[in-house]
Amino acid sequence: MKKITKAVFPVGGLGTRFLPATKSIPKELLPIIDKPLIQYAVEEAIEAGIETLIFITSAAKHAISDHFDPMPDLRAKFMAQDKQHLVDKLDTLPITIQRVFIPQGQPLGLGHAVLQAAPMIEQGEMFAVILADDFIQAPSNPLQKLIEAASHTGRATLSVEAVADDRISSYGVIAPGSWDQGITQVNDIIEKPAAASAPSEFGVIGRYVLPQSVFGQLKATGMDHNQEIQLTDALHELIADGGLQAVQLQGQRFDCGSQEGFVMANLHVAIQNPKLQQQIKTYLSSWE
Ligand code: UTP
Repeated sequence: MKKITKAVFPVGGLGTRFLPATKSIPKELLPIIDKPLIQYAVEEAIEAGIETLIFITSAAKHAISDHFDPMPDLRAKFMAQDKQHLVDKLDTLPITIQRVFIPQGQPLGLGHAVLQAAPMIEQGEMFAVILADDFIQAPSNPLQKLIEAASHTGRATLSVEAVADDRISSYGVIAPGSWDQGITQVNDIIEKPAAASAPSEFGVIGRYVLPQSVFGQLKATGMDHNQEIQLTDALHELIADGGLQAVQLQGQRFDCGSQEGFVMANLHVAIQNPKLQQQIKTYLSSWE
């Protein structure tokens, strides 16, 4: 099987939960302390062997392209001042990495966003999908694990984690088979089930490795009642058509598409930063 070297970053959503910030700042550029969510996601992808980044954008998201542009003048200035630590912060992308920006046109859902990457993926090729607003802190690279599992079996591979009952109805939820070293076959997948009818506690999170054939399923998938194309519907078809497997996330995930997840992610990173932790802890303890 061809090596997995392309990752799709759907960044075409409206980010309505962060208005008015998202009037002019794409949600994916919101920072965890000083680094934007999309930068974390891109670093995870590159570390996992990705060489081509495919951003599915909306018209309002030029700032994402700007973020990855070099700044030669400022770079030269910092170099002349011997401020290497600032130069390192400006270098957001290694020069060997290719960037592609594809406009989504209209925000017609995650499935529609992924479908826009179809011209970039060759027949028989597998590719990664990363949702930057799922911010993950893990002992080992979460995408790498998916790529290894997918490369081993050739199956579409999802990342899942155990989700509390009161939140499960916001997720795509899998019916797993038996688990072997954190990997299971997926027997069914249900989008946003009621807690009582959820097939398991395992919700799908924002890391996927998908086969090129998913584009056929996405094209065949109609719009749902919200006039969106859901990725979960296409994944459901993959179960019959060659198989779907899931890898349980080993690590901590923050849903930075939600305000509480975003604030908790910032606290989590701040508390681990030796320069910030004491002040943050003192401040938090003043609320106890
Ligand atoms: P969300 O469901 O979080 O939607 O999308 P959203 O529009 O970004 O945010 P809210 O709900 O209005 O606050 C999950 C991921 O899918 C992308 C988003 O950018 C996000 O990374 N997405 C969603 C698209 O790229 N296009 C879409 O049409 C919808």
